Amino acid sequence: MGFGNFLVLTISCLICICHGFTPPDNYLINCGSPDNSTVMDRVFMSDKLASNLLTSPKEILASQDSNSGPGIYLTARVFTGVSTYKFSITRGRHWVRLHFDPFDYQNFQMGSAKFAVSSQTHVLLSDFTVKKRIVKEYSLNVTTDDLVLTFTPSGSSFAFVNAIEVISVPDTLITASPKFIGNSATFQQSMSSQALETIHRVNMGGPLVTPNNDTLTRTWQPDSDFLLEKNLAKTVSKPAAVKFVPSYATEDTAPRTVYGTCTEMNSVDNPSSNFNVTWEFEVDPGFQYYFRFHFCDIVSLSLNQLYFDVYVDSLVAVLNVDLSTYVNTLAGAYSMDFVTQSPKGTNKIRVSIGPSALNTDYPNAIVNGLEIMKMNNSKGQLSIGTFVPGSSPSTKQKNVGLIIGATIGPLLALVFLGSCFFVLFKKRKRSQDGHSKTWMPFSINGTSGGSKYSNGTTLTSITTNANYRIPFAAVKDATNNFDESRNIGVGGFGKVYKGELNDGTKVAVKRGNPKSQQGLAEFRTEIEMLSQFRHRHLVSLIGYCDENNEMILIYEYMENGTVKGHLYGSGLPSLTWKQRLEICIGAARGLHYLHTGDSKPVIHRDVKSANILLDENFMAKVADFGLSKTGPELDQTHVSTAVKGSFGYLDPEYFRRQQLTEKSDVYSFGVVLFEVLCARPVIDPTLPREMVNLAEWAMKWQKKGQLDQIIDQSLRGNIRPDSLRKFAETGEKCLADYGVDRPSMGDVLWNLEYALQLQEAVIDGEPEDNSTNMIGELPPQINNFSQGDTSVNIPGTAGQFEQSSIDDLSGVSMSKVFSQLVKSEGR
Ligand SMILES: *[C@@H]1O[C@H](CO)[C@@H](O)[C@H](O)[C@H]1NC(C)=O
Ligand SMILES: *[C@@H]1O[C@H](CO)[C@@H](O)[C@H](O)[C@H]1NC(C)=O
Ligand SMILES: *[C@@H]1O[C@H](CO)[C@@H](O)[C@H](O)[C@H]1NC(C)=O
Ligand SMILES: *[C@@H]1O[C@H](CO)[C@@H](O)[C@H](O)[C@H]1NC(C)=O
Ligand SMILES: *[C@@H]1O[C@H](CO)[C@@H](O)[C@H](O)[C@H]1NC(C)=O
Repeated sequence: MGFGNFLVLTISCLICICHGFTPPDNYLINCGSPDNSTVMDRVFMSDKLASNLLTSPKEILASQDSNSGPGIYLTARVFTGVSTYKFSITRGRHWVRLHFDPFDYQNFQMGSAKFAVSSQTHVLLSDFTVKKRIVKEYSLNVTTDDLVLTFTPSGSSFAFVNAIEVISVPDTLITASPKFIGNSATFQQSMSSQALETIHRVNMGGPLVTPNNDTLTRTWQPDSDFLLEKNLAKTVSKPAAVKFVPSYATEDTAPRTVYGTCTEMNSVDNPSSNFNVTWEFEVDPGFQYYFRFHFCDIVSLSLNQLYFDVYVDSLVAVLNVDLSTYVNTLAGAYSMDFVTQSPKGTNKIRVSIGPSALNTDYPNAIVNGLEIMKMNNSKGQLSIGTFVPGSSPSTKQKNVGLIIGATIGPLLALVFLGSCFFVLFKKRKRSQDGHSKTWMPFSINGTSGGSKYSNGTTLTSITTNANYRIPFAAVKDATNNFDESRNIGVGGFGKVYKGELNDGTKVAVKRGNPKSQQGLAEFRTEIEMLSQFRHRHLVSLIGYCDENNEMILIYEYMENGTVKGHLYGSGLPSLTWKQRLEICIGAARGLHYLHTGDSKPVIHRDVKSANILLDENFMAKVADFGLSKTGPELDQTHVSTAVKGSFGYLDPEYFRRQQLTEKSDVYSFGVVLFEVLCARPVIDPTLPREMVNLAEWAMKWQKKGQLDQIIDQSLRGNIRPDSLRKFAETGEKCLADYGVDRPSMGDVLWNLEYALQLQEAVIDGEPEDNSTNMIGELPPQINNFSQGDTSVNIPGTAGQFEQSSIDDLSGVSMSKVFSQLVKSEGR
């Protein structure tokens, strides 16, 4: 393992910069044939040449005289008893593709064969009969060093297969936490043990894409056969326009031919412009389905022009999609994942897109690609039939039983030994590392290596984020060989340079000091974190470089620098109150996402105004994840060995008890709120003693009800008292001594949104003299920062908004809710 693997991975990563992903495992097997067979440049190896793969009670090589179709379909293996193919693999997700093309050979009419196919963990097919050529594709995360595919005939029938593919899939392909359809909650189960079967993979508005045109050897069908009313749709093709922003999508997510073509509304022939375009797909009832939509706005002429809705079976998948707010560019590739809430009751699924009701200037809707995948049920099955994994074979197959026993016994032992070795290896590795304390908690729910963060402990795992790797030469080019004139800052980690990649993307290049061990840990954490999380309000990682012991991180360039720079000390024009509120709201969204957005909460640990960056539109994004950690519920007793963070922002409770929770970020964010309000450093030793610490100083005035005495001069008279009061209260709650008394980031976000609405009410022309009684007290639900209560009732809406869904509402619908709230309060 160790070095060898690392080398292989490194090499494959270097290759993949130009040619996409190079799979560590790439088994292409031509079953039942003495010869290799080449299909579109892919060599399928004879399973007679690779005889160690197959264990079968009887060798039956079937062949047909035909010149129809590719060579792999001219032969097959026939199995009259339980038979296995065993592939030795690198752990992780793999494609398993099974090719079937029934023909008659001697007494075997393959069209009547009935059988099951299973892996060690999942049932792929059960009581399966196939009448015409078909390729079944699965994606399985294999957590052992072998993948064993078992063919089990049903009753007295037999099994067959023409060809098998077992190919590694990049670890990053299926990691997101999909949203439910018809409900904005997130699918809570981890995708890591989920087996998926591709049911449909469609290139909307584009041609058939064959495996040789896809970096992950996938096949994409054109969509026209699935369209319900063809006259409502038209196609657009602009493959050259597609931009791959690596943190959102790469050619591995879907090829350029998929993102570069789309189906859109045909508004020319249908002038009403208010209709949906709908596709209908056949599915297998009784299962949940995973949907991956691929979008790329190749139809708009400017940003923020296209707003559309997506439905599955009349349920909302997502409303008011404005792709430009996700990718910040036109024609940026983006994918979105959803799952159905319950097993399908029927064998048809309808997918519709239509114009958003929010922005009707350019009514249109698009979709570029769609993958519909069946999810295994709670018994691990992707197919329900008579086959029961592990059941004793029927009397007819006694001799086979022996073979299974003989195969499975040692196999189990191997798996056991393998996992012991794995644990030992990891432990050793960890103690050698010495600096492992800055890593994610290693043991999660008692399982070793179970978390997607913890697997970052070894060097090789960094290379799994292959999509982000950038060659050193390209970094040198981008920064003009680290020209000092491009230096835009120096941080604890190293120097930051402004650069430009050769495709014109502006980037910030952070070059670490290679000598620092601490830096190395932070470097890895940052890559792990940023490649897992993508959000509008988190700075995105474009890539990294670790060639020649370099530690270089490449981020999207943030035109307007840090929030701190706009508050004091730099001579930049001061921000308006509205701008400041929007910045705080943006940063709160980013932190709220970190705390709740993924399956495990992540604590940033270094929230401060210098780590909140502003893009060209002054949109705030949280940066600098080098210290971040996953949350405490993973390990209630986790006591960190060294208090980290920045002076002046540190949670006093964390300092006292060294116990880290999300509420430490909330405290630091509270300090940022007062910094934004007062526009002064959080620690200023040049001031009289009582004023040195901003948090203490501000709380003193807040308690007297006279905070307005110390706010930024430039805000005086431009800030509405209610808005200030709401803002200050929110900050005060954040600074509570004990974490349990502090609001969650979701509560903070909500309250800041409210403060913005209170400020806006005046600008919207509401008479000033009404203002004090118009607002009155806040509804109790909003003032209530209680811990257990994670949801708030919104007057005027029937349901409840879950905190976790707040972030998903677009800014517009959010402000609608609030103006309704403000108005109903006023009556
Ligand atoms: C078949 O393919 C395998 C692997 O690609 C190769 O090693 C072998 O030499 C090939 N055999 C023949 C007869 O071409
Ligand atoms: C596969 O499963 C293992 C163990 O559950 C997990 O650590 C790993 O992250 C998973 N890989 C993928 C790509 O889901
Ligand atoms: C697919 O690949 C072949 C060669 O491998 C190429 O000639 C063809 O243009 C490609 N098609 C598309 C749609 O990219
Ligand atoms: C589009 O379909 C959804 C779900 O069936 C439906 O709610 C919506 O009203 C439809 N829109 C139009 C314009 O027909
Ligand atoms: C799929 O199978 C895995 C076990 O392999 C299980 O943990 C998971 O819950 C199953 N998925 C569903 C949706 O039941």
